[in-house]
Amino acid sequence: MTDFAKTHAQFRLPDGVIYLDGNSLGPLPIAAEAKVARTITEEWGKELIRGWNTAGWISWPRSIGDRIARLIGAPAGSVVMGDTLSIKVFQAVAAAVKLRPERRVILSDSGNFPSDLYMAEGLVAALGQGYRLKVVEPEAVEDAIDETIAVTMLTEVDYRTGRLHDMAALTAKAHEAGAIAVWDLAHSAGALPVDLLGCDADFAVGCTYKYLNGGPGAPAFIYVAPRLAGIAQPILSGWLGHEAPFAFDLNYRAGPGIERMRVGTPPIIALAALDAALDVWDQVQMADIRRQSISLCDRFIAQVEARCPSLTLASPRDGTKRGSQVSFRHPEGYAVMQALIDRGVIGDFRAPDCLRFGFTPLYIGEAEVLGAVAVLERILNEGSWDQPHYRKKAAVT
Ligand SMILES: Cc1ncc(COP(=O)(O)O)c(C=O)c1O
Repeated sequence: MTDFAKTHAQFRLPDGVIYLDGNSLGPLPIAAEAKVARTITEEWGKELIRGWNTAGWISWPRSIGDRIARLIGAPAGSVVMGDTLSIKVFQAVAAAVKLRPERRVILSDSGNFPSDLYMAEGLVAALGQGYRLKVVEPEAVEDAIDETIAVTMLTEVDYRTGRLHDMAALTAKAHEAGAIAVWDLAHSAGALPVDLLGCDADFAVGCTYKYLNGGPGAPAFIYVAPRLAGIAQPILSGWLGHEAPFAFDLNYRAGPGIERMRVGTPPIIALAALDAALDVWDQVQMADIRRQSISLCDRFIAQVEARCPSLTLASPRDGTKRGSQVSFRHPEGYAVMQALIDRGVIGDFRAPDCLRFGFTPLYIGEAEVLGAVAVLERILNEGSWDQPHYRKKAAVT
C-alpha cells in the first residue's frame, strides 16, 4: 500500500494553500531543490563542458525516459525526453503519417487540446498534397475511424472536463482500419494507470510539468512502439537524433530506435529537477493513486453538489470515465476562481466557464477536499466573488 502521508511530506506546499492545480503545474518536490543546486554548482560549476560525459548529461534524455516508461506501461528504451509537448505532438504525428503514405487524413476531436490541433494544422499545411485534419466530436471518434484515416491523434483525458477516451478500444479500432494511433498523455501520465504496450499504441507523447511535478516548462516525452522505433522517420531531424552526432556528417542518418526522436541539446537543469521529481514514483503503486484519486474526486463532487447549487458538474460522474480532475461550470467561473485563489484554494479556469480542480493523492487528501469546498461554498453564498477585480483576466488563466 502506498503511504500517502510519506509522499505528501516530500513536497514544498506553502502554509494556508490548498493546491488543486497539480493537473496544470505540479508543486515543488523538495528533492528537486538539492538536485538542481548540485547540478548547477557541482556539475555545471566544476565540470563545465566535461559534465556531458562525467555527469552523464548526454544520456539523461534516455535514462529519465526509462523512469517515465515505467509509469505508462512502456518498456525500457522506448521513451526519450526533450522539447515541449507541442513539438513532440508534431514529431509523432509527422512520423505517423509517413507510415501510411497512401492516406491523407489525420483524425482528432474537438475535446483535444488546441495546441495539438494547431500543430496538426501546421503539419498538413507544410505537407500539402491533400493532407487534412478532420475534427469530430469526442463521442463521434470511434465511428469516424475508417480506411481513409492515416492517423488518429487523440488526448486520452480531456483537459477541460477530464473525460477519458478508451485508449485500448480506440487503438484497436484504428488498427483494424489500418491507421496509426498517436496518444497525448498530458493529463494521464502520473494521473492514472496507462498501458501503452497492452493497448498496442503506436506513438505517445506527454508533458512532465503536470502530475509528474517536473517544474514549469519541464521537458516532454515521446514513446514509439518498439516495433516501429527503427522504421519511424523523424521529420525533425536534429543532430542529436543522428546515428553519429559527433561524426558531424553533412547528411542526416536516423539514430537507432528511440534515439532518433531526440532533436537538439537537452535542457539539463530542467531534467535534473524532473529526475528528482520522479523519485516519489518509486514509492507509489499506480493502482493506489487511481483508487484514491477517484475517491477524492467523488467526494468533492458530492460535497459541491450538496453545498454549491449554482455550480453544474462538467465532468463525467462515473469515476472510471474520468481522469484525475473535476470541473464545474459557472457563468462567472473566472471571477469565482480568482476569489477562491485569493483565499488560498488554487485551481484554474478554462474558457468559457469551467472551474477546474485537480486531485493528486501524492499530496492532496480528504482534509484538503473538505477545506476547499468550505471556502467555495462561502464565496458563493456571500457573493464575494462578484467584484470587478476578480473579472479582470490575467495573461494565464
Ligand atoms: C493535452 C495537451 N497537449 C499539449 C499541450 C501543450 O504542451 P506544451 O505547452 O508543453 O507544448 C498541453 C498543455 O497543457 C496539453 O494539455
